[in-house]
Amino acid sequence: MSLVEAAVDALNAGNLIHLPTETVYGLGASAANPEAVIKVFEAKGRPRFNPLIVHIGDLALAERIGLFDDRARALAKAFWPGPLTLVLPVRDRDQACDLARAGLDSVALRMPAHPMALDILRAFGGGVVAPSANRSGRPSPTTQADAYEETGASVAVSPDGGDCPVGVESTVVSLLGEVRYLRAGAVTRAQIEAVVGPLAADTAEGHRSPGRLSTHYAPDAPVRINIDTPSEGAVYLAFGETDYAGVVIQLSAGRDLHEAASNLFRALRDADRLMPKVIEIAPIPDHDIGEAINDRIRRAAGFVG
Ligand code: TXA
Ligand code: MG
Repeated sequence: MSLVEAAVDALNAGNLIHLPTETVYGLGASAANPEAVIKVFEAKGRPRFNPLIVHIGDLALAERIGLFDDRARALAKAFWPGPLTLVLPVRDRDQACDLARAGLDSVALRMPAHPMALDILRAFGGGVVAPSANRSGRPSPTTQADAYEETGASVAVSPDGGDCPVGVESTVVSLLGEVRYLRAGAVTRAQIEAVVGPLAADTAEGHRSPGRLSTHYAPDAPVRINIDTPSEGAVYLAFGETDYAGVVIQLSAGRDLHEAASNLFRALRDADRLMPKVIEIAPIPDHDIGEAINDRIRRAAGFVG
C-alpha cells in the first residue's frame, strides 16, 4: 500500500494523519467526522472554541462546503492551490462538522500547494481539518521529524513530504462582509488588495482569528525580539551579518524574508534544544512576508493579547 492510500484509509477509519503542506505540517482528520475531529483537539490540547481550517483538493468540493461569491472565486483563482485560507459562510454543515467550525456559521477553506497533500485530499474526496501539527502553544512543525516529535503518538500515518518551503501558516482572509486580513502569511495584504480592492481596517475584533492565543509558537526558553545587540548567554536568531560572539542561528544571511520565514520555526526549535537562558531575535523588516514573521515572533515572545 502506498503512503497516500494508507493516509486515505486512516482518514476513512476516523484516525489522524500528518498532512505535509507548503506552509507547515498539519494534523489531519476527516472534517465530516466529529469523533475524528475531537481527536485533533485532544492530541493538540487545543481549546474547542478555536475553529479549524478545512483543506480541500478541488474547487468543486470547496464550493459545496462554503458559499463563494465573486470575491472568493477571484481569490481562489489567484492563489489556490496556495497559502491562503478563505473564511466564508458555511453551506454544508455535514462536510464541515460543528466541532470543526467551533459552532460558527462560517468555515475556513484552503487548498494547499503541496503535491502529497493534494494527492491525499483528492484520493480522499472530502474535506480534511488540519491545524498545525504542534501541541497547542508550541512552534509549528516544518519537517516530518518535528511533526513526529510533537504529535507522532496520535497519528496512524506520518508521511514525509520534505521540508515545508513557506514555513509560516497560511494567510487567513475573511469574506464575511468586508474583506478582512485575519492572519498574516505568505500572501500579503497588497496581493489580496490587488484582487479584491481595499481591505477593511484592522479592529480589535477584526485583526485576528478567534481563538488565537497570546502565547503561541513559543519555545520553552524566554524569547526577546527586535534585538540588535544580543546579551551574553543568549542564542541569537540573526537576520544578516552579526558580530555576536555567542551562539548564532541565521534566519537568512542574505536578508531574504522568504528564506527567514522558511527557517523560522526550525530555528526556534533548534535554539530551544540548546536550553539557553534566553532566545533573542534580530529586528525583521515588516513588509511582505515580514509581517507574518513579526506576528509569529511577537506571539512567541508573549506580546500579543
Ligand atoms: O497553513 C496553515 O493554515 C496550516 C496548514 C496545516 O494548512 N494550518 C493552520 O491551522 O495553521 P490552525 O488551526 O493552526 O490555524 C487556523 C486559523 C486559526 O487562527 C483559526 O482561528 C482560524 O484559522 N479560523 C478557522 N476557522 C475560522 C473561522 N470560521 N473564522 C475565522 N477564523 C477561523
Ligand atoms: Mg497553529
